Amino acid sequence: MNTHPAQLPVNNSYSTDNQSRSYLMLSLCYLLLGLLLGTLGAFQYLLPDLLKNKISFQQARPLHVYLVISWIFTAAQGGLYYYLPRVAGRELYWKQGITVQLLLQLCTSILIIVSFFDGQFGGREYFEFPPSLGMGIALSWLPLLINFFLTLRPDYRTAPVYIWSWGTGLVFFMITLSESYLWIFDYFNGNIVRDMTVQWKAMGSMVGSWNMLVYGTGMYVMERISGDKGPCRSKTGYFFYFLGLTNLMFNWGHHTYIIPASPWVKTVSYVISMTELLILGKIIWQWKSTLKDARKNYHHIAYRLLVFADIWIFLNLVLAILISVPALNYYTHGTHITVAHAMGTTIGINTMLLMASVFFILKTENEEGVESGRKTIHAGILISNAALAVFWGSLVASGILKISSSLNRESFSYTMTKSIPFFKLFTYSGAAITAGLLLLVFIALWLLYPEPDPLPPAD
Ligand code: HEM
Repeated sequence: MNTHPAQLPVNNSYSTDNQSRSYLMLSLCYLLLGLLLGTLGAFQYLLPDLLKNKISFQQARPLHVYLVISWIFTAAQGGLYYYLPRVAGRELYWKQGITVQLLLQLCTSILIIVSFFDGQFGGREYFEFPPSLGMGIALSWLPLLINFFLTLRPDYRTAPVYIWSWGTGLVFFMITLSESYLWIFDYFNGNIVRDMTVQWKAMGSMVGSWNMLVYGTGMYVMERISGDKGPCRSKTGYFFYFLGLTNLMFNWGHHTYIIPASPWVKTVSYVISMTELLILGKIIWQWKSTLKDARKNYHHIAYRLLVFADIWIFLNLVLAILISVPALNYYTHGTHITVAHAMGTTIGINTMLLMASVFFILKTENEEGVESGRKTIHAGILISNAALAVFWGSLVASGILKISSSLNRESFSYTMTKSIPFFKLFTYSGAAITAGLLLLVFIALWLLYPEPDPLPPAD
């Protein structure tokens, strides 16, 4: 393979690399714990009494969701800390900021996990822990914001699209996190329509903010692997960034179709949601050249993960567009189709892109180590993606079954009995996803773990 200038600076080392590696290790620990709790929650579908007195489904579910979302944020943050000095060509502005952030995040997470085990809730969807702990999350993000803007100091007119994407993700995370806690004020809390509209708006846009961070990372890794700086500076690249930004700001409305809010909000968000058809069109248009590139670079582990993410983008986009049509959303809302959409995107797209970033960093740092684990890594990628296909399909199928049962006015218990085969498929394939991803987690943790310094020679 030809070496392009864009590939060269990757091998430089910076004084904060060890801290970035610790950050990535923390993110993998979140994933490890999150997968175990997700598997427990899935088995509790089949065996509701399983560990009920130790950790019930009502505890396992929100803790699973908190941990896997923390995996997404933390892996994106760890990657950013590693890439920032390389993109800027200089050391981080505030080096100790990484350690400050890591400690703040670790303390907040420990408090959150303890409160879940202790049965203390009080928060809302995705952040169901006591609301005061949300402050810990907000504070822990500040060092990265400071480091991002003061290390890069980019010229925005010429900055590649991933810098825009990262910057937008960081700023919008802070905005949407603040919005997601507006419910603590009476003005929102006292009016159910206002409360639910703002809450869904905040959470919908927060998903958009982490997508910006993750997609920016994916674009950067892609540029480094291909050595082609063109796509991230092209007009098409910026067009799709702005399309993503518009969706981040407005397409949350499809979460609120069932709320009696102003009709114009729903119309705007419906029209914006449909602009995603353009992204779908682009993927189909580029399919052939994507396949050609895939054949060329498939040996590259990070590239392989990016190809799988691409397939999941396609499948989830089709599902997202369908459930954004109000006439269909009326039926799909509250069924397992929504869960398929949430997990299909967070596992298939976000997790695959972030794993690509982790293995890209590992290959840069320790190519020999990655090569020695190649077979296991390939097995992990294949198992997790094949199992995800079954998992995703079983969730969509049980959603369709629920819709057909409610149209036929069948009883709840009859619908549940009919759903059991799909729940079994969901649970067993979920356990297989866990097995596949754990292979990747263990190898990555093993390779990230710092080697001890060699002993000084004996006199
Ligand atoms: C990277 C891996 C994963 C991510 C990012 C992830 C993400 C999520 C998200 C976002 C939700 C909330 C869905 C919603 O509110 O609609 C969820 C729920 C759930 N997940 Fe996962 N998940 C992962 C892996 C797994 C695995 C492997 C299993 C099973 C073995 C699992 C089992 C569950 C269960 C049982 C729920 C609750 C579903 C319900 O409310 O009925 N997850 N997950």
